[in-house]
Amino acid sequence: MKSSGSIMALAVALVALSPSLAGAATKAEIARGDYLVNGPVACGNCHTPRDAKMQPIEDKAFAGGFPFSDPGFQSFSANITPDKETGLGNWTDAEIIHAIREGANKDGRIIFPPMPVPTYNNMSDDDVKAIVAYLRTLKPIKNEIPMAKYSIPQATMPPAKGLPAPPKTDKVAYGGYIVNALSHCFECHTSPGANGAPDFKNGLGAGGFEIVLGPGVNVRTANITSDPETGLGKWTDAEIKTAIVDGIGPKGGHLAPPMPYSNFKKMTNEDLDAVVAYLRTVPPIKNKVERTDFQMKAFP
Ligand code: HEC
Ligand code: HEC
Repeated sequence: MKSSGSIMALAVALVALSPSLAGAATKAEIARGDYLVNGPVACGNCHTPRDAKMQPIEDKAFAGGFPFSDPGFQSFSANITPDKETGLGNWTDAEIIHAIREGANKDGRIIFPPMPVPTYNNMSDDDVKAIVAYLRTLKPIKNEIPMAKYSIPQATMPPAKGLPAPPKTDKVAYGGYIVNALSHCFECHTSPGANGAPDFKNGLGAGGFEIVLGPGVNVRTANITSDPETGLGKWTDAEIKTAIVDGIGPKGGHLAPPMPYSNFKKMTNEDLDAVVAYLRTVPPIKNKVERTDFQMKAFP
């Protein structure tokens, strides 16, 4: 027994001293960042440009330039590869973290909407650091992005608290963290208020938010509250998961973009279960969302 104690002490000393073991911690951090960026957070859904068929251009992954047009702004997703001139190569970790969670870039210019900065403001310090660690490993790609124009007023988010994520054993709380800090479900799925922006107070999760995918191509988001008639109240857990990860509804039809189904498919089963457990607690709101002509035609 005495010898096992001294082996423990030796192991503790080695962990403290060994640079290779310190490197292992960073590997875990990069792996977590990879999971987040390519899974539930889906940065590439906006930051990877698309071809004429709206398919992501893989050799330009994360190099930006995807256009967003809205009556209130014209912008292009940024190059978030480590290229020194046109990407994040010369940014410090703190500058990247500030852009993600508070919404101002290295030059102090405000960069949202549509980037879901209000969601990312709730991200834990560990997760945002993991995301930055992963972004540093991407292939640098030179891609100059045009300057955005905003005609709506913009404001940064208050300093992020960076609180730790709830424990995974608390399924509902951890699912809430995924939905509200990582996956920006509600920034798409909340009904618009009088000014056209999501009305989180009265329409949380009730859908009907219109997203312009291209000239004359609009989609409306679904009601994902627990309302039994117009939301997910009567869906089984399996039906909800299939919709989230495969983009297939309970009647078999495909669902429309821009929900990042293929990213969500990389979520662990444990995380998906947590999302579903949390969705069951979203207060019901009756709101029947009519799908647009584009949704009916292309995604019956
Ligand atoms: C809904 C789309 C969307 C999502 C999701 C999104 N972004 Fe962005 N992001 C943008 C747009 C658009 C811009 C450029 C805005 C501008 O120029 O005003 C931007 C700008 C940035 C910038 C500023 C870069 C610069 O050169 O100014 C960083 C850093 C960034 N995003 C990182 C991320 C990361 C990391 C994620 C995932 C955690 C992410 N974004 C998710 C749309 C998005
Ligand atoms: C970028 C916007 C966006 C994000 C982010 C997003 N969704 Fe969606 N979601 C949509 C759109 C648009 C539809 C409707 C597709 C259709 O009708 O063809 C949809 C459909 C759904 C459906 C199917 C419901 C139905 O009645 O057909 C579910 C369930 C769902 N989303 C849940 C989620 C959850 C949970 C998250 C976060 C983990 C999420 N969504 C994130 C845009 C988004």
